Formats: sequence, C-alpha cells, structure tokens
Amino acid sequence: MAFDFITEQVAAQKSQARYRQRVCLQTADDFAEQQSTRILVAGKPYTNFSSNDYLGLNNHKEINKAMEEGVARFGLCASASSLVTGFHYAHQALEDKICQWLNKPRCLIFTSGFSANVALFQTLGQEVGKDSAHFFLDKLSHASMLDGAFSSKAKVKRFAHNNTEQLAQLLSNSSAQNKLIASEGVFSMDGDQAKLSELANIAKKNNAWLYLDDAHSIGVIGEQGQGSASVLTHPKQANITMATFGKAIATSGAFLACDESLHDYLINFARHYIYSTAISPALAWATIKSIELIQRQQWRRDKIIELSALFIELLDSSIEIIPSASSIHAIIIGDESKALNVSEQLKKQGIWLTAIRPPTVAVGSSRLRVTICASHNRSDINHLANHLNKALCK
Ligand SMILES: Cc1ncc(COP(=O)(O)O)c(C=O)c1O
Repeated sequence: MAFDFITEQVAAQKSQARYRQRVCLQTADDFAEQQSTRILVAGKPYTNFSSNDYLGLNNHKEINKAMEEGVARFGLCASASSLVTGFHYAHQALEDKICQWLNKPRCLIFTSGFSANVALFQTLGQEVGKDSAHFFLDKLSHASMLDGAFSSKAKVKRFAHNNTEQLAQLLSNSSAQNKLIASEGVFSMDGDQAKLSELANIAKKNNAWLYLDDAHSIGVIGEQGQGSASVLTHPKQANITMATFGKAIATSGAFLACDESLHDYLINFARHYIYSTAISPALAWATIKSIELIQRQQWRRDKIIELSALFIELLDSSIEIIPSASSIHAIIIGDESKALNVSEQLKKQGIWLTAIRPPTVAVGSSRLRVTICASHNRSDINHLANHLNKALCK
C-alpha cells in the first residue's frame, strides 16, 4: 500500500514511549482571566510549568488593547507579502522599535522563528558552493537552524555543545571565504547559555560572522531584556540576532536583526520572506506594546531570578539539574518511560510538566523541562519542588 511507513512509524513511536499527542487547553467561566501558568485540561485545572510565556505577558491588558487598536487601524490581515503591498506602517514601526532596542541598524519581520532560521541559512548558503561557505553550529542548535543549514549549499560542521576549543580548531582548518558561527543564546532544552564572549572572539579572529538565536533569551536576559548579545562589549559583535515573538514577547512571529547590506540581501533573496504573507499588522502593533512593557518592567526579570533561586533551594540536592541563569531548568531523567511516568505523577498533583523525549533531545537524556515564569508565585514553586522531591527521591 502507498505510504505504509506512516502507520509503521507511528506504531514504533508508541512502542518506544515516544508517541506525541497534543492537549487542548479549555476555557471556562471561572477561568475567564486566561493565564499561561493556570491551564484547564479535560476539566481539570493545573499549574503550568511548560509554558514559554516567561515574563507572564500573555493576555496582558495593554497588549490586548494595542491588538484591538491595530485591528481598527490596519485590519487583522496584511493581505499580501511584504514586497507586494503587505508591508504596513505597523511593520515599519515594529522594525524601528527593535532596531532601537537592540542597537542594530536593520531588522526584518518573519512569520515564525522557524521560518527566519531556515531563511537565513538557506539564503546565505544558496549562491556559494560547499567550499566557499562553511556553517559552524553548536550540536544543540534548534531543529530550524539545522534544517536551514543542511538544506543550503554550504558545508555544515557541528561542534560539541559549548565546546569553544573544538570550534576554534574547526575554524582554523577551514579555508572557506564565508564562515558563519551559529548558536542559541540560551539553549532551549537545557537552559544554559552560550559562551558568547568566546564565540565573538573566535569569530573575530577567523573573520567569521556570529549568528545568535535568542528565542529563549529575548526579554529575559539584559537590563531591558535585549537578550544575550547585551553581555557583549558591543552588540555588533553578534552580526545577526534572531528571536521569536512567541515566547517572552507573548505575541507571534519573529525578527532577524542585522546590518544594512544583509537586510537588503534578504529582502531580495530570502524565499521565506518574499513568498509569504506578512504577519498581521495588528499583531505587529501589539508586539510594539509588549516590547515597551519588557523594556520598562524589570520586576518581571527579577521575579524569574527570585523564583528560580527558591526552586533550586527547595529541590533535593540529589536531583540532577542543569545550572541555568534563565527561566529554563532541565531535570535529566534519562529513560523515556520514566520521564513520562514522573510527568503523570505530577499531573495527579495538579502540576503540568511535559516530559521532553527523543528526538527533541538526545537518546538517554529524556527530561522534565521546568519553565519558571514571572506569573508564578512562591507557593507554586513550593508545590512543584515538594512533589518533584517525592517523585524523584523515593
Ligand atoms: C531556539 C529556537 N529557535 C527557533 C524557534 C522557532 O520559533 P517559532 O516558534 O517562532 O517558530 C524555537 C521555538 O520553539 C526555538 O526554541
């Protein structure tokens, strides 16, 4: 039969405890004030520790109001791709806001972070052959970076996670004219940070560009939430920064910030940008409001730091957790079934904590990825730590 592999492969996922399913979040009258830290699934309320709404801005009144204003002024839909007639005043205003926030010359808005990543690697690696362009990616780079890089014509090398010595070695062996080092700022499944100053030095020494995927850093790291490049002596040391709006910024879409010439090049050659409808202008307008709140409300970043410290303090010292200065705290379990089992036990206590399994993470490193958000409170953290200790320290 045609496409037999479909049923075979789904059955294999089930037999390996890797089967994936969606859950539908419900609404109810007494849940009218929707928050991503309180969810209702199959009629039961849970405290959510698997949300990427790190700053607790989802459903913020001012952002919702800006969205309504945006709909009234520009309409909900862009109604064309950016190069036709889909580039509205709201998009320009959002690009300007991001450039000023990150101190970057130019910025381009994409429909998603996945699309921005694929666009960047495919476009930079489209003309030049394997020998003239080399991409160097951290082993733990997001699927969208890998897909973009491997589907380009450039040669792709991966270095062991945060192993800057290996990276330096790979670069010194490369004779390519065009070299790009790529890393996440905060790693999505581990929560640790890239060694940015070292990456910037290696890039400079080898005449390479540095590309940062700041999906999990934007809003959370830096004095005004500008992301991981804010730790560098100059933001230009990271040549290109990508971040999604779908996590701490709490809207949807993504941006790539870069210099004028790359901006021009992407507008002319990035297929994901050229042949796709621009994001909703109303959403762009709401995103500007979200960034304004992120810049001024330091208390949200402080709260993540305070609650994260409390969590580490309360967690039994025998539990293996990856050190993190972000919202993400990864507890490595190892086996898929065991991770699922702990996740199920926690559900019985009203805690939602999705087990992360291969292929999202390496085989043998299934984990519980706890995200601590500004909208959690101290008693949520107490409850979580208490039940994790019970489940993991029997
Ligand atoms: C590191 C990283 N990059 C890119 C993306 C993709 O962003 P988006 O959800 O906007 O497509 C994600 C989201 O899961 C991510 O974790």
